[in-house]
Amino acid sequence: MLKNDTHVGSPRSRVDGPAKVTGQATYAAEFTAPDLAHAYVVGSGIARGTITAIDATEAEAVPGVIKVFTHENRPGTAWFSYKYQDMVGPPGDPFRPLASDEIQFSDQPVALVVAESFDVARHAASLVRVCYEQQPHETDLSRARHDSYEPPRKRTGIAPPPKPRGDAVKAFGEAPVRVSAEYTIATEHHNPMEPHATTVIWDGGGKITVHDKTQGVQNSQAYVASVFGLSSDDVRVVSPYVGGGFGSGLRPQHQLFLAVMASLALERSVRLELTRQQMFSHVHRPETINVLSLGADRDGKLRSIQHQAVAATSRFEDHQEVVVNWSGLLYPAENVDLRYELAKLDTYSPGDMRAPGAPLGVFALESAMDELAIATGVDPVELRLRNYAERDENDDVPFSSKELRACYRQGAEQFGWSRRNPKPGSMREGRELIGWGMASGVWEANMMKTSARAVLGADGRLAISCATSDIGTGTYTILTQIAADALGLAMEDVTVELGDSSLPTSPVQGGSWTAASAGSAVMAACQTLRETLFKQAAKIDGSPLADAAIDDVAFSDGRIVLRTDAARSVLLADAVGAGGHDKVEAEEAAGPGLIGMMLPKSHASYTHAAVFVEVRIDEDLGVMRVTRVVNAVAAGRILNPKTARSQIIGGVVWGIGMAMHEETLTDHRLGRMMNHSLSEYHVPANADIQDIEVIFVEEHDDKTSPIGVKGLGEIGIVGTAAAIANAVHHATGKRIRSLPITIDKIL
Ligand code: MOS
Repeated sequence: MLKNDTHVGSPRSRVDGPAKVTGQATYAAEFTAPDLAHAYVVGSGIARGTITAIDATEAEAVPGVIKVFTHENRPGTAWFSYKYQDMVGPPGDPFRPLASDEIQFSDQPVALVVAESFDVARHAASLVRVCYEQQPHETDLSRARHDSYEPPRKRTGIAPPPKPRGDAVKAFGEAPVRVSAEYTIATEHHNPMEPHATTVIWDGGGKITVHDKTQGVQNSQAYVASVFGLSSDDVRVVSPYVGGGFGSGLRPQHQLFLAVMASLALERSVRLELTRQQMFSHVHRPETINVLSLGADRDGKLRSIQHQAVAATSRFEDHQEVVVNWSGLLYPAENVDLRYELAKLDTYSPGDMRAPGAPLGVFALESAMDELAIATGVDPVELRLRNYAERDENDDVPFSSKELRACYRQGAEQFGWSRRNPKPGSMREGRELIGWGMASGVWEANMMKTSARAVLGADGRLAISCATSDIGTGTYTILTQIAADALGLAMEDVTVELGDSSLPTSPVQGGSWTAASAGSAVMAACQTLRETLFKQAAKIDGSPLADAAIDDVAFSDGRIVLRTDAARSVLLADAVGAGGHDKVEAEEAAGPGLIGMMLPKSHASYTHAAVFVEVRIDEDLGVMRVTRVVNAVAAGRILNPKTARSQIIGGVVWGIGMAMHEETLTDHRLGRMMNHSLSEYHVPANADIQDIEVIFVEEHDDKTSPIGVKGLGEIGIVGTAAAIANAVHHATGKRIRSLPITIDKIL
């Protein structure tokens, strides 16, 4: 469909870049109104128990305080009976702020102070007195894992582990080579630059415009309408820019509820922005424990794969991820047993974080594969090639496309893998131990039903709109490229409007599906627009295209041109005018099962990667740097190599953070997260990031989406941490099976 492309496939800069770097882009907490009031959350001092008394007298006496909301005076709304689960909510009872005197996690909102200024609200919040009756809490997964359970599957799109194949325990026992170990990954927090924030503009007459930090404006809209019993006409959510999401903005968070509650009760505009520290009592990636056992022949051919994982969830929801399924997908074996369980902790619910589940399970699998490579003496790349899955054995279907073999080969070549001395500790420069490690990555390639509108004006300008967000992935840019090519326009002649709940329907931006989904929707809308324009052009009196069919013409340079005779053409502006209006409009939906797509279940669709890493470790001090990364990715068609590369680099940087830095620490006596700031919760800084190279291997896929796209927002993180851990072993001979790999573990 995309022939003669000029923009698609080219490395274009972000169309929203200038707005972002000049401060023109407006984020949730930057919208304002003349009567804006400011809110501040008071958090619980205990992790579990009940509020016995709450006294806001002193806080309310502070000049400028408008109101202090608690569970005792909360306004009556439809909220009290609400059953609505947001689009991506797991089974369970979602947290309801100020619902009752019950405390379910540390720093849980227990009061909301609303004042004329932020400073007054914050000060008054410190004067709210709360007394508790404390009950014993559990925040330690190493204890709670003993009460793990299989999660209920209702209301979740998360694939359960496949049924066991063969007899994995018996085959493991009989295998000539065996590796078996436990691998753990610490709790991590998302920490987007833009904290969770909501500005509610009171429009009068019960109508509100909500600016929410969200990855899905229509999800926030549906939540607010449902919880407060409003019609969706009365709630418009407008969030054109998102300062990083990584999954933390998929679900409506409690600041949205609190800000809307206050606005409706006070009938004025209200802003609530969480502090960085409050963000740590909020959504996070769950700590996860993996037990992985591989049994193989002496040549490394796998006979048995067993992978069990236990992940943390909250007391009130069963947050689920795909952690273990990858182990039955990446490598074939006749005997496979995969299990996934949850354990309840007294914390806020964990949530999705970039490639939820995959970097956790794949860290275990790819570490174990490295251990198997050493046990068998087979090179790590060769071991993976000997165990290459030609088919998805979990679901017993073929792959829509899979160029992982090319990822291994091109990545190894670019990295110089053949120069690796396999002996641990054998490569060094002065005091520096050098380690080379590699791992595979895999992530889902999905398409979700999405709609888009395309409007061409008589001035030759094309306006594209869709409710999807652009969380920083480059969505504005790729949609501009697709639309410009479809109508033969310059990118400057196309505007793209996103992040407004009144625009054509879109799911949340997540799951790496937006390019495939919104991209296909824009393509479909533009295709309909082309057909209308062509028909109108052909009908003009004496039209040079009167006898032509649509396949005979091209849209180019603002004209509809006969391919065989460029002299015969109609101006787009004339084609628009021929319809009798000053514009032509088309709205289309694209999605699985629509516009000639394969049935979703007939093929399995995944993106793949091979990650090669060099680490250098100071022999005496244990200080480590990741000095070189080559990530070779197969993700179908690449719409924009520049924004695509940025996505992979971002994933790799996060993989480095996961491997070496990120770890949320809880004081289990208090049930409270302790390192709740960016000075103590470490993320990679510039000096931690050196050479990162991205290769996109050629991959043709005609089944995942009509535009050949498989998506790449998340694949970059998967496998990276395992490759680093494997490189650490190569450098030092130490196998570190718990992330992050800090100096104390290296020494
Ligand atoms: Mo992603 S964790 O689906 O935003």
